Amino acid sequence: MTAHITPFNHNNAGRNSAWSPASHRTKPAKQQPTYADPEALRQVEEKLSRMPPLVFSGEARRLKKKLAKVAAGEAFLFQGGDCAESFAEFSANHIRDTFRMIMQMAVVLTFGGGTPVVKIGRMAGQFSKPRSDDLEKRGDITLPSYRGDSVNGLDFTFEARLPNPERMMQMYYQSASTLNLLRALAQGGYADLHQVHDWNLHFVGNSLQGERYRTLADQIGESLGFMAACNITAETSAEIRETDFFTSHEALLLPYEEALTRVDDGTGAPYDLSAHMLWIGDRTRQIDGAHVEFMRGIANPIGLKCGPSLQADDLLRLIDILNPRNEPGRLTLITRMGAEKINTHLAPLLRAVRSAGRSVVWCSDPMHGNTHVATNGYKTRDFKAIVTEVCRFFDICRAEGVHPGGMHLEMTGQEVTECTGGASAVGVDNLAERYQTHCDPRLNATQALELAFVVADHLKNARKARELAA
Ligand code: PEP
Ligand code: CO
Repeated sequence: MTAHITPFNHNNAGRNSAWSPASHRTKPAKQQPTYADPEALRQVEEKLSRMPPLVFSGEARRLKKKLAKVAAGEAFLFQGGDCAESFAEFSANHIRDTFRMIMQMAVVLTFGGGTPVVKIGRMAGQFSKPRSDDLEKRGDITLPSYRGDSVNGLDFTFEARLPNPERMMQMYYQSASTLNLLRALAQGGYADLHQVHDWNLHFVGNSLQGERYRTLADQIGESLGFMAACNITAETSAEIRETDFFTSHEALLLPYEEALTRVDDGTGAPYDLSAHMLWIGDRTRQIDGAHVEFMRGIANPIGLKCGPSLQADDLLRLIDILNPRNEPGRLTLITRMGAEKINTHLAPLLRAVRSAGRSVVWCSDPMHGNTHVATNGYKTRDFKAIVTEVCRFFDICRAEGVHPGGMHLEMTGQEVTECTGGASAVGVDNLAERYQTHCDPRLNATQALELAFVVADHLKNARKARELAA
């Protein structure tokens, strides 16, 4: 493993001479802001391209190996975090609570489901948002839509909504601070399995889910006691003491992603070192578009959102472009169909990919196909629809003989009231109480934990079925 990282040399484009970090500029790019001052944008790009990378290419390769295990049916991927990180919500407690929630859910999936879990946060870079409309109208006033804190501000004023390239610098610095804390939490003792009881957030503790979690944590405590008697302790085993935690975001804002791309001297491959994993959104997956062009050339593990409008032949074409060497762990297909459409839209994609012999990770995002506006105007999602989509994902994958490889959620460790339903019984009338998201509604801690138990049961059943078949 080498630690040398050099800026990209356009004369030495490596495996594919037609590609460069800037080759996306020759293609149509959707969902990009229009900056009023191109020179200011150029200066920020230049500054970012000289900044230290946020992650190391060896870490991205390590994640790819883990995802290859998921593709082979030997592990489960859990990806989660905010819909949009924000400059205002930036605090140690917020980061810690999301991390803690992911750890807690991973424990439920690992121990309850009997499956190793690969953990990836939608964190430390998830600042850019695609929007259905370029403009937002309120009364007589029409302004540019909010596109995430990396681009403009949420306030409905002309000044706030003006895209400002300097925001990319703040995104970079906040991502660096977030990553620093995440690394400390993952490796500094907080993620030690002996802390498993402490990951129960206090407001979750009194719920049925909290109770169920405590029972599971007690069992883990007993297992740790047994292992200690066999001389396997936090001192002797890194697996008990710390965890592998990776970061990801939608690679939407191309000037930022291009500027953080570097060549790894060891392998000669270009990596986008703004995160370990990047994904292409459902609105920017055009075969001839700029996002697909950028993503095909970076060597990171990548994701592709697959919505209900994606046809099987287009998916196969995208796979050819994004993973031409059929490298296991390279490509995760994140399906986001909606609780109803998944019944008819998922199976054709699973069959096409399987018959073409393509290695991918299949992952369910049960959030983005289940968004609606409630009677009181709040954008929300119902817990029942989310559970339904996840359960159908498992059932359909199983019927098609495909490994249901993962789950991708918008969730937070805070007790927000953004999605309705679940045991915590958030109703439409409660939405106004703690509706804090900058973009899409997230599961709160109690709802997220409840969902983890549902999925753990699916994993357990799938494992039993495999054992019976063997
Ligand atoms: C998202 O993940 O926040 C998102 C916008 O998803 P999609 O591209 O699937 O709509
Ligand atoms: Co979202």
